[in-house]
Amino acid sequence: MSFFRQLGKAIHRERQFGFMHLAQDVELDVSHGEILYLEGLNLSFDGFKAIDDLNFYLDAGELRCVIGPNGAGKTTMMDIITGKTRPDCGSAFFGLNIDLLRLCESEIAQIGIGRKFQKPTVFECHRVIENLELAMAGDKRVLPTLFAGLTGEQRDRIDSALATIGLTEHAYRNAGALSHGQKQWLEIGMLLMQDPLLLLVDEPVAGMTHQEMDRTAELLQSLAGKHSVVVVEHDMEFVRAIAKRVTVLHRGRVLAEGTMDEVQNDPKVIEVYLGE
Ligand SMILES: Nc1ncnc2c1ncn2[C@@H]1O[C@H](COP(=O)(O)OP(=O)(O)OP(=O)(O)O)[C@@H](O)[C@H]1O
Ligand SMILES: [Mg+2]
Repeated sequence: MSFFRQLGKAIHRERQFGFMHLAQDVELDVSHGEILYLEGLNLSFDGFKAIDDLNFYLDAGELRCVIGPNGAGKTTMMDIITGKTRPDCGSAFFGLNIDLLRLCESEIAQIGIGRKFQKPTVFECHRVIENLELAMAGDKRVLPTLFAGLTGEQRDRIDSALATIGLTEHAYRNAGALSHGQKQWLEIGMLLMQDPLLLLVDEPVAGMTHQEMDRTAELLQSLAGKHSVVVVEHDMEFVRAIAKRVTVLHRGRVLAEGTMDEVQNDPKVIEVYLGE
């Protein structure tokens, strides 16, 4: 599905959710090419600056990798984007016009920002396909419905997600029987069922085999363009495999940004991180 159809769907969503009318009676504006604007963000925990005057911009359809030492603020940045944590000051906009700091966590998810945490949270005692159905229903309390009860369009969406995440052959296995890597892909598939415009993925390859890492690299690359994707990862080999642009965070701010070669050769980066 093209990025612009995705946008169309987001706009359609706006008609379904009253809060969007109240909050912003307009469509997501990516006319300047960027889908995410974080500016002047600050956040302290008991006097410790976890986020320190952070500026971060993401192009629509871009796949960006964010790296940085432990405690650099990578997860906290995602917490701010998704409304889990509020900054002390600064701004966070989705497109030019949707002020994320005015929306709560569930509203942010509904307008098209999906997040994948490090630990997979699939429903282990349900089949792979049922996990995708539940994600599509958007209501985790709904009992699994029979596949036959889905509309043709819904079935197509599930088939397409299964193909994207490489689990077509495993559709009728219980999610609990999948490997760690396959569970991670299933969770990405579950996010895709909600048609996110922006996907935030925190440390996707931790604990994966090399083969699973290669497959994850392909998967994330295949999502770019249709979706905008931010990947936080410590595994430099993996980052090199997928990244066009890399942002290095250090002490809550951007230390360097550029291609992997540019940031790896940046003396500031070598000093604080890669040269360790
Ligand atoms: N809720 C909180 N209360 C207090 N301190 C916090 C809280 N959340 C994060 N921090 C602190 O903020 C800093 C940034 O943490 P964050 O988890 O964002 O780092 P990170 O870059 O994701 O690190 P890692 O690579 O280890 O995952 C850390 O020093 C952390 O201890
Ligand atoms: Mg983290």
